[in-house]
Amino acid sequence: MTKHSVVLIPGDGIGVETSAAMQRVVAASGVDIDWAVAQAGAGCIDEFGTPLPDETVQAIRERKTAIKGPVTTPVGTGFRSVNVALRKMLSLYVNLRPVMSIPGAGGRYDDVNLVIVRENTEDLYAGIEFEVGAPDTKELIAFVNDHEKGSISEDSGISIKPISVHATRDIVDYAFDYAERNGRRRVTAVHKANIMKHSDGLFLRVACEVAEERGAVGADAAGAIAFDDRIVDAFCMNMVMNPSQFDVIVFPNLYGDIASDLAAGLVGGLGLAPGANIGKECAVFEAVHGSAPDIAGKNLANPTAQILSAAMMLDHLGERESAERIRAGIRAVYAKGEHLTADIRRADGGSARAATCTEFTDAVVQELL
Ligand code: NAI
Repeated sequence: MTKHSVVLIPGDGIGVETSAAMQRVVAASGVDIDWAVAQAGAGCIDEFGTPLPDETVQAIRERKTAIKGPVTTPVGTGFRSVNVALRKMLSLYVNLRPVMSIPGAGGRYDDVNLVIVRENTEDLYAGIEFEVGAPDTKELIAFVNDHEKGSISEDSGISIKPISVHATRDIVDYAFDYAERNGRRRVTAVHKANIMKHSDGLFLRVACEVAEERGAVGADAAGAIAFDDRIVDAFCMNMVMNPSQFDVIVFPNLYGDIASDLAAGLVGGLGLAPGANIGKECAVFEAVHGSAPDIAGKNLANPTAQILSAAMMLDHLGERESAERIRAGIRAVYAKGEHLTADIRRADGGSARAATCTEFTDAVVQELL
């Protein structure tokens, strides 16, 4: 049996509980993993003087694969976000979020099975910002106004939205590769190209070029992957009304971030949503939710999202059979409905006692034995 080497970052708050649950389930699936525990988050600032120690980044560079719990964003340290920093330092250009209905989990739909592929490095998340009233902001405003590019009011703050040909090509290529590897039928590009012609317009143009190169333009030809595009506002309405029409969806950074929470809400909430940040060298798997300080340390967290993130990691490591067994185990626990955590019990209005994180995990492990 192959022994895999994986960096585990438990993170802050409920990350400690959901990571321990995830390790138990992975062990029960029979995959042999050598876990290298590393630190990140608010909880390690006292020891390392930073929420993202160099040792942690180095460990991921060496082992290539990591799974991380959520981290609390420290306020007032000048550190914008551990997650954004990790994505930049490791060139994790893909944010991958599969969204699937789990019958019994209280979602609004029981037939959703889509995958969000979000560009992870540019757009309004590039962090290029100009504070209201600062000298360089005034200079930028003067430049724009002088060059007849429009008129920006003197009392504006500005965030820049860069969208490049190469990053768009990379993310759309990834979406098609993913669709091919996983037997998916359609890739949809989401944008606001009708208004932002030089950023979203570029995204759409490059997406269409990639689709054409792959012979994917137009309707579902036999054997070929279909391609279409949606304007982001219409896309949101379509998602809420009929999410099962979507398959693989590729987004620029900001729309992908918003759409993935919207999609998670349609199938039962944050406790169920797994994710991954993937680069050409390394991959970091993590649940979509945060550190949930309101329930941390109380054994109340729903570990489903972290366990499903581990299943994605096992797919990535070539352990597809074990990954599928874990997903089947989770589905079985929800279908039986006897050991559901409080977030799910609240959503379905049931009166039965909620399970703890440990009890839910016991039930999943039991399914795998
Ligand atoms: P959050 O996702 O931590 O919590 C939002 C609500 O959902 C809370 O009521 C929480 O109890 C509930 N919730 C979240 N995950 C749950 C789970 N697995 N089981 C049961 N209930 C769950 O978002 P919030 O409160 O905005 O952020 C808290 C901290 O987490 C912040 O410091 C934020 O910056 C950080 N954060 C970190 C992320 C990451 O590291 N990937 C992602 C999002 C937020």
